[in-house]
Amino acid sequence: MAKATDPIVIGKRTAKNRVTMAPTVKFIAGEDGRVTEDFVAHYAERAKHQCAFICVEATCVAKEARLAPSQLGLWEDGQIEGHRKLTDACHEYDTLVVPQLHYGGLGTHPACGPLVGPSKMVREAFGQKSEVKELSRRTSGASWGSLPLRRCGPGRRATTGCSSTPATATSSTTSPPG
Ligand SMILES: Cc1cc2nc3c(=O)[nH]c(=O)nc-3n(C[C@H](O)[C@H](O)[C@H](O)COP(=O)(O)O)c2cc1C
Repeated sequence: MAKATDPIVIGKRTAKNRVTMAPTVKFIAGEDGRVTEDFVAHYAERAKHQCAFICVEATCVAKEARLAPSQLGLWEDGQIEGHRKLTDACHEYDTLVVPQLHYGGLGTHPACGPLVGPSKMVREAFGQKSEVKELSRRTSGASWGSLPLRRCGPGRRATTGCSSTPATATSSTTSPPG
């Protein structure tokens, strides 16, 4: 039987052991949704202590669909650098990192935007009713279309937000480990 300390192959990558970190939102980003030094330190600390695979917390792909104004984001190019820093800090310890791409949907905070979800379910929250809309590229404006899902240039490792594999447009999805 495999031990927790045994490596495991995940797609094209190998995790050095089977210790993983589930996504857990911290709501410590600023209004701009960017990675702060606190984020980098938090994840690097987990990597340092032998976590081999980290799923970075719910990372919103649309400014108007955040769970809170302080949710981590990845909806514009200016946010890539912070995610790269976080990922590189974890890679120092040979830890795999994936972002959890996230869209608030009916959980969206009213300070961020209207409640818009993919289902016919109507939810009343924060004094607002959800709008019944198909969650499509059109619904979420430029957000899905402008996702930075590409490699960051020749010779660079794929980092968070820079995967070569497109993410699917569900309300919570992850891309392959980088
Ligand atoms: C404070 C907190 C934040 C969480 N944030 C996220 C999140 O960002 N994304 C997510 O999918 N789950 C989130 N979860 C759920 C956890 O990842 C995990 O699935 C849950 O705690 C159950 O753990 P278990 O599946 O190991 O029993 C969060 C849980 C807690 C307690």
